[in-house]
Amino acid sequence: MSLFNVYPLFDITPVKAQDVFVFDKNGTKYLDLYGGHAVISIGHSHPTYVKNLSEQLKNIGFYSNSIENPLQKRLAAQLVTLSDCKDYQLFLCNSGAEANENALKLASFHSNKKKVIAFKNSFHGRTSAAVVATDNAKIVAPINAQQEVEFFELGDLKGVEIALQKNDVCAVIIECIR
Ligand SMILES: Cc1ncc(COP(=O)(O)O)c(C=O)c1O
Repeated sequence: MSLFNVYPLFDITPVKAQDVFVFDKNGTKYLDLYGGHAVISIGHSHPTYVKNLSEQLKNIGFYSNSIENPLQKRLAAQLVTLSDCKDYQLFLCNSGAEANENALKLASFHSNKKKVIAFKNSFHGRTSAAVVATDNAKIVAPINAQQEVEFFELGDLKGVEIALQKNDVCAVIIECIR
């Protein structure tokens, strides 16, 4: 079976990483300023991360969301300490696309509206509503195209203001770091 062709690939095979360095299969050392687009911003193979993950995997690797999970409550408490977002609920998911998808869905449930405002040159993920809010027609399939998204230039406050006056918008999604 071949791998699904998602991206054009760089001819590099990382096999090990430590802190800000990545080593490929030929032993070449790279300074990695990418940080896994913030997924591994604590640095590669951070000792606390390795220790906690290894211990957890030895105990139990997976269960569903339908049981008590004190680790999730601990994470929520730590996030409040860091962010001061006390009156928020934590929704845990696996990817950026899922986070955006569910944020748009909740906004639509809450407002009972369905149009989304997004900005040109954006990327929000490859799933249903997230991909339509992504300004790249090449990755939007016909099955996604039913979602209603209106695009503006980032900074076009006047355009957004006029669109919001129609009162049919459930969410405005903004990619802060472009
Ligand atoms: C700005 C932005 N939003 C959403 C996503 C989607 O995240 P994921 O690939 O985890 O679904 C990405 C991924 O690169 C991203 O850069």
